[in-house]
Amino acid sequence: MITEAPTVTAPTEHKICNASDYQIAARSLLPTPLYEYLASGTDDEQTLAENESAFKYWYLRPRVMRPVGSISTATTLFGQKLSLPVFVSPAGVHALCDEVHGECASARAAQRAGTLFGLSQHATRSIEQVAGACAAAQGRNANLWYQCYILKDRDMTLRLVRRAANAGYRGIFLTVDSVRFGFREADARNGWSALPEPHRLVNYDEEIANKPQSSESKKSSWLSPEASVDKTKIYAGDEDAWDQNTEQLFEQNPTWEDVCWLKREACHDLPLIIKGIMTAEDAVEAVKAGADGVMVSNHGGRGLDGALAAIDALPEVVAAVGDKVPVLMDSGVRRGTDVLKALALGASAVGIGKPVFFALAVGGENAVVNLLQILQREVEAAMAICGVESVADAKRSLVTRHPNGG
Ligand code: FNR
Repeated sequence: MITEAPTVTAPTEHKICNASDYQIAARSLLPTPLYEYLASGTDDEQTLAENESAFKYWYLRPRVMRPVGSISTATTLFGQKLSLPVFVSPAGVHALCDEVHGECASARAAQRAGTLFGLSQHATRSIEQVAGACAAAQGRNANLWYQCYILKDRDMTLRLVRRAANAGYRGIFLTVDSVRFGFREADARNGWSALPEPHRLVNYDEEIANKPQSSESKKSSWLSPEASVDKTKIYAGDEDAWDQNTEQLFEQNPTWEDVCWLKREACHDLPLIIKGIMTAEDAVEAVKAGADGVMVSNHGGRGLDGALAAIDALPEVVAAVGDKVPVLMDSGVRRGTDVLKALALGASAVGIGKPVFFALAVGGENAVVNLLQILQREVEAAMAICGVESVADAKRSLVTRHPNGG
């Protein structure tokens, strides 16, 4: 149990007390185009803003005179113990914030804090490198999950997931909200490329390197060899080129049958969570298709602008499938009280995305540990004042909607 979180002083002299402090510090440290690539949302950024502000319309109903002498923030997810009900959501290109270690730093940090790390298919360190870095530091298999997409190239989809299974990853996120990427106007204005040199989406590189093909296609593209990609455009900050090229890679006509197929072919021994569910209807479909869990998420406001805040979509998903499978959520979680509200609304655990990038940029692996410890301390304090001794005790009656909050 953590009683006091260490504080980290960023090079900016900004005292870090909470998750948002990392954002403020990162903003002053990072080049504007990079900061805005990480921080911005789609179109008017309505969903981006509401992901955070919607938590403020849910109010806690503290109960008093209850035993809280031995509070535990620990929980269990698919038989895997977490020290806190907060995990690192899979998000690409961590090397933009830690060039030397990339995802190895953030994954190790999650292990040190006692929680699970989601590795994005769009990571800048390979599936095996991250597993190796964690095992070397911990002396055992880490709590790592791998996140995939349904690709047009179904064989590559399977090979990537099987690589993760072979490397000891303990679960799979299938992200289903990204058949198109949201258009971030900040990036267009900044002329930002999603993948500046020398960073690479190494997991595709390795697939392409290991797949029999012509030597020309091998060296010319990180995308599928079939795709005719103008690589100079990707690296030149042409947002349209980036979108078009990922559209060449991703399946544009996925069906629930693909979920059945993935579960059957590559995830029979691993839990499969469908990430990016925002409605009761799709949650029901996902479970029917064989998902072991669903994750309520709007991609942190980077997908559809005008979508409901994730915390407001959570109740209908929990009502639809919460008695059958664990429901996870992310998008907008910044405080221990946010975590507690999500737990009360039926989430089994919650993920964080942008704060991890910001902490990584400010202080690398140690800062990500500190970020998770801050959240753990905040969750624990909120639990104490609410009279909640364990994660399982965070019941629906713990939260209420503000009378004027809709
Ligand atoms: C993401 N996210 C994401 N999700 C995913 O399934 N695969 C991915 O490769 C990425 N990549 C990615 C990059 C960046 C820069 C960001 C900020 C986010 C979404 C991520 O998993 C998560 O859903 C959101 O970040 C959660 O919202 P918050 O915590 O950022 O508000």
